[in-house]
Amino acid sequence: MALQLGSRLRDTRGRMLRDLRISVTDRCNFRCVYCMPKEVFGRDHDFLPHTMLLSFEEIVRVARAGVAHGVHKLRLTGGEPLLRRDIETLIAMLAELRTREGERLDIALTTNGSALAHKAQALRDAGLNRVTVSLDSLDDATFRAMNDIDFPLARVLDGIRAAEEVGFDAIKVNTVVKRGVNEDDVLRIAERFRGTGVTVRFIEFMDVGTTNGWNLDQVVSSAEIIERIGAVHPLEPLQPAYHGETATRWRYLDGAGEIGAISSVTAPFCGTCSRARISADGKLFTCLFASGGHDLRALLRGGSSDAELEAALARIWGARDDRYSEMRSADTAAERIEMSYIGG
Ligand code: GTP
Ligand code: 5AD
Ligand code: SF4
Ligand code: SF4
Repeated sequence: MALQLGSRLRDTRGRMLRDLRISVTDRCNFRCVYCMPKEVFGRDHDFLPHTMLLSFEEIVRVARAGVAHGVHKLRLTGGEPLLRRDIETLIAMLAELRTREGERLDIALTTNGSALAHKAQALRDAGLNRVTVSLDSLDDATFRAMNDIDFPLARVLDGIRAAEEVGFDAIKVNTVVKRGVNEDDVLRIAERFRGTGVTVRFIEFMDVGTTNGWNLDQVVSSAEIIERIGAVHPLEPLQPAYHGETATRWRYLDGAGEIGAISSVTAPFCGTCSRARISADGKLFTCLFASGGHDLRALLRGGSSDAELEAALARIWGARDDRYSEMRSADTAAERIEMSYIGG
């Protein structure tokens, strides 16, 4: 299918492609128990060799093809994206791209925050608009246990502070809530960031990958989370900030800002899902829960032109039918990619 100028690429469910999430490495220095458990990601684990990773030039080509089809937002993920050497150079290259309407792209990055204190200024200078930091606990012992490398909480909080100082357009905190593990952190984290301008989003624990031992009993629903916080600090719902937003938004009635809840288990949002994901080795996944990807690296390294790359993207997106979270209860595929490989 050739791209017609001005046409809007849609999948079989009428969903557009707006958000491209690019994993720049499959490595991470953390071993979060729900994502890269040590038993699976041990010392002898084979991560991708550097030659298998897309180069910065290759990533930019893929991003440009996405932009030609209407992508407005790029999110860099990992593993831990700040482990990719010279990531700021990639950001500067991506910041040169313009949407089809001639506007700047919204460039965001999801990080565990461990290197953010050193990197925040360079990231901002390179043109990064927004940063999202994963933070599951404000109790140092729980935090160290959840990242499973004994990484101190204080250094991630320093990273968030550094991000605030360099003046990103927005800073968010992502908190995955697991029953019996960090439920008590819900109120604590909400209170810590109330009134700071940092938006906390609480995420229902999901059955991504096949190694995190997921089970419905470990899920704390967004409804329960909002109830817990709202009982202490009254909340009211807000309209989505954009079509297809993952989070539902809530504002504090006293004006202390907003929080979000990401309910991929209890209230799936596949109906408006405009996200495509590129793994670090250049596979395109049309769903977070897909069992397989489409090899763009083979095209990139096999001499395909930009037009051919765009056509491949159009073909893949045009055939897309995914809505895993809505189907979850029906049948769960045994083969699923790991979160650390695709970046969430
Ligand atoms: P904003 O651009 O700030 O709205 O961020 P975002 O919600 O697009 O991205 P972020 O990476 O912060 O997403 C937060 C979390 O929501 C992810 O880590 C996932 O756990 C979950 N999530 C994001 N996208 C999807 C999706 O397409 N499907 C499902 N099931 N969960 C998702
Ligand atoms: N369920 C929900 N969120 C998860 N993340 C990682 N694994 C899971 C899971 N099983 C989140 C991380 C981070 C983002 C990349 O994805 O906490 O915020
Ligand atoms: Fe934890 Fe994120 Fe690393 Fe996974 S990729 S182990 S969630 S820090
Ligand atoms: Fe999109 Fe798949 Fe997530 Fe549904 S489960 S919102 S289709 S990525």
